[in-house]
Amino acid sequence: MLILGIESSCDETGAAIIKDGRYLLSNVVASQAEIHDRYGGVVPEVASRQQLTTIIPVLEMALEQAGCGWENIDAIAATYGPGLAGSLLVGLTVGKALAMAHNLPFLGVNHLEAHIYANWLRGKIGLDSNESEDSDWEYQEGDPIFPLMCLVISGAHSELVLVRGHGQYELLGRTRDDAAGEAFDKVARILGLSYPGGPAIQKAAQHAQEELEQQGKSALQALNTFRLPRSWLRGTYDFSFSGLKTAVLHLAEGVAGEQNIHNTRSSENSGKQVSQYTRMGLQAAQRGGANVELLAASFQEAVVDVLAVKTRLAAQEYHVKQVVLAGGVAANVSLRARLEGELRPLDISLKYPAIEFCTDNAAMIASAAFFHLLRGEQHGLDLDVEPGLSLPFSKK
Ligand code: KG4
Ligand code: ZN
Repeated sequence: MLILGIESSCDETGAAIIKDGRYLLSNVVASQAEIHDRYGGVVPEVASRQQLTTIIPVLEMALEQAGCGWENIDAIAATYGPGLAGSLLVGLTVGKALAMAHNLPFLGVNHLEAHIYANWLRGKIGLDSNESEDSDWEYQEGDPIFPLMCLVISGAHSELVLVRGHGQYELLGRTRDDAAGEAFDKVARILGLSYPGGPAIQKAAQHAQEELEQQGKSALQALNTFRLPRSWLRGTYDFSFSGLKTAVLHLAEGVAGEQNIHNTRSSENSGKQVSQYTRMGLQAAQRGGANVELLAASFQEAVVDVLAVKTRLAAQEYHVKQVVLAGGVAANVSLRARLEGELRPLDISLKYPAIEFCTDNAAMIASAAFFHLLRGEQHGLDLDVEPGLSLPFSKK
């Protein structure tokens, strides 16, 4: 079954064609990161306006790269939530219009569920390949193994979810304030690094570690140069990252303050003021001998520490055999390595999507859609966007 997936929940515009929920024929993503870097975060109106102009070329490219025409497509799926209303509207409306024009079944997809289903995606195949000829469509060798513990970590969500089977989600814990990706983005802004913050912080941290190693010092030193707080929220599987973000802000602010330079907390609400403040704060920090890259490394270590330990505890308590990562922060190499180290002695495997399927993409939308369509589900063309949509949790 060939599904055309469409994704436009935030700043990316994506279209992909996936066979049987797993095999990639094409995956096109138009990124707006350069545009939003100027503002230190996504500007919703700019994002949706940009998506209006890119969605059709992106769709055409996805069909062309897959080497297929409309006669090959069996169903269309588009994200309907959660996300930015204006952005969601672009992809959903185009998806529904195409389904009507080509008389194809349509399915609206939950973006968070799709991040989880990115773990079902495999390599690229040709249109005529018989790679996926397997009679059991619900389970194929190499698929994630239920029940699994899923850590969903994106720009807007951080949730620990027990997944007992297709579509069966139990919420164990969630962030009480900032999402993990949001913390990466905000701290990157404080440190004067680029948007999106996750890759920028990861790169800075890697550089700090390499520098120390070259000097014959241990990489561990880089990770703990600044003693940053961890919010354990013991006895729960909830997370909290805003205290950590504030601690980083105070460190930069403190150094800036010492140098008698622009020193106002209220600047946090204004992108322009923040970057002006942080640029000055960081110049001061560098003059004061503090190192932005070491601060980035210490911050990343604090986030990874909490995410890895709490996920391992949940995996142990619920006796799962596999932990699965989902969402943009799942691309983080330190998190992957640390969690692997936590789980290996317990004989629990760790699965995560290829980097290009961690951040927003349409391949994961088509993958999630496949498993709903298998269960006979479909949406009418009156489906509306749901910006505040959550995973469909069942009660514990
Ligand atoms: O899943 P995603 O692409 O979009 C949402 O659904 O929100 O996640 C985006 C988030 C951003 O906050 C970005 O900074 C973060 O994922 N991210 C990373 C990395 N790559 C992307 N965070 C940490 N390390 C990375 N390598
Ligand atoms: Zn996402």
